[in-house]
Amino acid sequence: MPELFSPLRLRALEIPNRLWMSPMCMYSADDAAEAGRPTDFHLAHYASHAFGGAGLVMVEATAVQARGRISPWDLGLWDDGQIPDFARLAAGIRHGGAVPGVQLAHAGRKASADSPARGGGALTAAQGGWPTVGPSPIPFPGYPVPEQMSVDDIAELVDEFAAAARRAREAGFEVVEIHAAHGYLLHSFLSPVANRRTDRWGGDFAGRTRLLKEVVAAVRSTWPDTLPVMLRISSTDWIEEDPTRSEESWTVEDSIRLAAEVCDLGVDLVDVSSGGLVPARISRDRDYQTSKAARLRRESGVPVAGVGRISEPVVASGLVASGDVDAVFVARQLLREISWPNRVAQELGAAPRHIPQYSYAV
Ligand SMILES: Cc1cc2nc3c(=O)[nH]c(=O)nc-3n(C[C@H](O)[C@H](O)[C@H](O)COP(=O)(O)O)c2cc1C
Repeated sequence: MPELFSPLRLRALEIPNRLWMSPMCMYSADDAAEAGRPTDFHLAHYASHAFGGAGLVMVEATAVQARGRISPWDLGLWDDGQIPDFARLAAGIRHGGAVPGVQLAHAGRKASADSPARGGGALTAAQGGWPTVGPSPIPFPGYPVPEQMSVDDIAELVDEFAAAARRAREAGFEVVEIHAAHGYLLHSFLSPVANRRTDRWGGDFAGRTRLLKEVVAAVRSTWPDTLPVMLRISSTDWIEEDPTRSEESWTVEDSIRLAAEVCDLGVDLVDVSSGGLVPARISRDRDYQTSKAARLRRESGVPVAGVGRISEPVVASGLVASGDVDAVFVARQLLREISWPNRVAQELGAAPRHIPQYSYAV
């Protein structure tokens, strides 16, 4: 049995394999009365990926506050009324034999944007946009200046992450992932490029990581002890790697230190992405991101998932077999081929997933 198709146990949860669907915004929620709620499209989409053989299906960035949506068409779990539609998603994913997970997010200074299919970019108020918040009044290039979050705003945000986790559990999700990558709110607190606060939530490493640690602790306190909490981070802002830039930024060394510290607070796996805080030159290497995940695992000892440009069976398999990562998240390759995990299983000589109803095919 190739390691990629061996189960991974995190706390009391057994995930049937290590080839997982990475969170991907579909920008397909209703933007009006039913804001934030999954639709029949989401049910068909996520269930299909479960039937395709992914061990874990991570539902896209789901906002913990309405103003934390990237776009008006994002999913959200800021209200109990949203739970039933998420419960259908979790059930649909389980019907396909996968573990249902959901990524909880707040877009911060990158919120209030148009969908990428319509060109992206900040929405004006006339276009349905809303005021954004951030650690400091420093905008993402091309976006409006965010309002600096007050101490009360910070306390409220921590509570809302915990409340959204409680709703995710009530809906039947078995994995919750905190989104602290890609320049969104929690990442913008981590990086000195966006966080210039002089209070307890800024300044040195301890100050800049405080909000994320508060969120982790709050989510952990509502999430069952038997189920895992994952954390997605950007391992680097891609500024330290650029010889033409010298400003202080979030680095791989910071990520290694953070990984060990959040593990002590109850994070069970760190999902290692990169970038998104500011426009930057990103390496074109195939292992641009997975090599950083491997380093983080080696130097922090924390379980990690690798992600980024994984589209060949031998690459996915090698990353896990070598012990570089514990699992892989795959995004765009699964949009190209929905049942890619089942095909990879077949190519590697492992059995593709067959739910009981499909046993006639064996
Ligand atoms: C359409 C699309 C939407 C995405 N939405 C999210 C998201 O909601 N949350 C997240 O953490 N990453 C998101 N990502 C990033 C992917 O999860 C993944 O990290 C990235 O695409 C690199 O993996 P890949 O090379 O396999 O596509 C998105 C990517 C795509 C292509």
